[in-house]
Amino acid sequence: MSTQLPLQISSFETYQSTYERSVRDPEAFWAEQAATFSWHEKWNRVLDWNFTDPDVKWFQGGKLNITENCLDRHLDTRGDQTAILYEPNDPEAPVVRLSYRQLHAEVCKVGNALRELGVGKGDRICFYMPMVPELAISVLACARIGAIHSVVFAGFSAQALADRVNDSDCKMIICSDYNNRGNKTIPVKEVVDEALALGCPSVETVLVHRNTGEPITWDASYDQWYHECVDEQSTECPAEVMDAEDVLFILYTSGSTGKPKGVVHTCGGYMVYTAFSFLNVFQYNPGDVYWCTADIGWITGHSYILYGPLLCGATTMMFEGVPTYPDAARFWQVCAKHRVNQFYTAPTAIRALMARGNEYVEGHDLSDLKVIGSVGEPINEEAWEWYHEKVGKGKVPIVDTWWQTETGGIMISGLGGHSPQKATFAGYPLPGIQMALVSKNTGEELTENPESGLLCVKFPWPSMLRTTWGDHERCRNTYFSTVPGMYFTGDGARRDANGMYRIVGRVDDVINVSGHRMGTAEVENAIDEHPLVVETAVVGYPHEIKGQGIYAYVILAPGNHDPEKLRNEIVETVRTEIGPIAKPDKIQFVEELPKTRSGKIMRRILRKVAAGETDNLGDTSTLLNPEAVDAVIEGKV
Ligand code: PRX
Repeated sequence: MSTQLPLQISSFETYQSTYERSVRDPEAFWAEQAATFSWHEKWNRVLDWNFTDPDVKWFQGGKLNITENCLDRHLDTRGDQTAILYEPNDPEAPVVRLSYRQLHAEVCKVGNALRELGVGKGDRICFYMPMVPELAISVLACARIGAIHSVVFAGFSAQALADRVNDSDCKMIICSDYNNRGNKTIPVKEVVDEALALGCPSVETVLVHRNTGEPITWDASYDQWYHECVDEQSTECPAEVMDAEDVLFILYTSGSTGKPKGVVHTCGGYMVYTAFSFLNVFQYNPGDVYWCTADIGWITGHSYILYGPLLCGATTMMFEGVPTYPDAARFWQVCAKHRVNQFYTAPTAIRALMARGNEYVEGHDLSDLKVIGSVGEPINEEAWEWYHEKVGKGKVPIVDTWWQTETGGIMISGLGGHSPQKATFAGYPLPGIQMALVSKNTGEELTENPESGLLCVKFPWPSMLRTTWGDHERCRNTYFSTVPGMYFTGDGARRDANGMYRIVGRVDDVINVSGHRMGTAEVENAIDEHPLVVETAVVGYPHEIKGQGIYAYVILAPGNHDPEKLRNEIVETVRTEIGPIAKPDKIQFVEELPKTRSGKIMRRILRKVAAGETDNLGDTSTLLNPEAVDAVIEGKV
């Protein structure tokens, strides 16, 4: 088995020449990277593509299993090295270290158990679990037997879980009994029970991992204990041989329309690109301890807690807890405790910790940090400077990584220490990534610098989404129809005189709340579920800690209502429909929403009012109901 790794770039000059080569002959470049992995059969075509259908295939005819590349191929060279380093929520609880050999054995045991429970290639398994080692183990086990994982962040509500389970007809749900989060214990299995009560006809089995051991309700017709199914299994489990273009996983994400969509990633290209980007962005070297604070329920956790690091034989840390428990020093205490070398987190966490005061970060030994990263939303200058000074001590390079669930891997970023860095600029595209700025007005590519426009990608990259589950037309329409011939990201960006990119933010009806992507329509639909709500418009507004907050304008049915009571009820409705992450921060009751003559809500105006920018609302005279604007301004909360 191959123990090689993809190319690791070690200077800005090498980056430039590699980039140039990767664009001149992308097939040769990616074939060279792909050849470093273990394949059962080599591909016969590197790439086939068009962005019209769209139809993108990388490494066609290639046969592989990603878990053999994550695990088996490391056994001879680093079998005893820690693969997963687990830091529990409770700082006093024992750390768990799973070596590559142990992780391999555990994954095999779960793989065998899943097969015994009747799961096979192509079946979908939904995961609804906290950040425990068993989540990593069973996700990998799922991939080992060729089943498709769909991890749902364990903060989503029963309704949101049921919607996701049903959209992809999952055969099994793997969950925990409870979740430890800070000083709270959160029921997890109970939410699964509620989801099943809402109706999930495809689910045959719920495999329950015992985490806290507190009592749960049990239905013997589908519930099975994880440990009872797994403990006696063999530690060898032959990996399912997958085609490079077989589906590896589905991950649901929000778009500008109401229903979340299942982004589909496939085996071969995703493997090649997550490993390549991990190695280069974080400049991981053997022996380093790498920590990404994301949750495996999001793409960041998939690509940069699990697959990227394990493919490269890294030691990757998983953290069960929250940044503020037992206090706001936890991240830095953990960095010092495990001598973390690469640390990767989100601006919202940086801002929240910054707001708690410098005393929490000072006094912790962060001298092992070599690269610190940011992901999920634009990082404002103040947070960037604080991260740079207080965490990076003014010398550790920051990688501001721009990417998306759909891109599978990091697209624009510095390569830790080897790229010029500029606060709030993500930087240059990675090798093989052909970004473009497109004029909103003309639809033409903007080739000069500096320039601002719609952020697009002109050429396929190995880890790009292939489709949206069950609805290819939606994939075409969302990503490939705005700018014909290109993948449209939904973001706006600026390129400076030197060609460095700065991401401005979403240009569609998607907001980014604490780094969590939310469709405004999705939140509106949830609020509309309240029986007294007639109509709703949701917009984002600048929020000091969360980046964006959720501002809801709500029209109520006629009658005398207690506004405070209704606000609470509406928040509760959103919590039930989606989950606490989608709760509106502000709710304003209005009589009317400003609309165009064709009946479309004027979101531009609502966004400005929510942001407090009422002195430049632009021309409102063409509205159907200009007087609604004054009323909205007057009632601002
Ligand atoms: O708006 C961009 C923002 O997050 C969106 C993607 O969200 P999601 O699919 O949930 O993936 C997040 C983690 C990869 C993007 O369209 N975004 C992500 N990273 C950055 C960012 N905005 C600015 N700077 C970033 N580094």
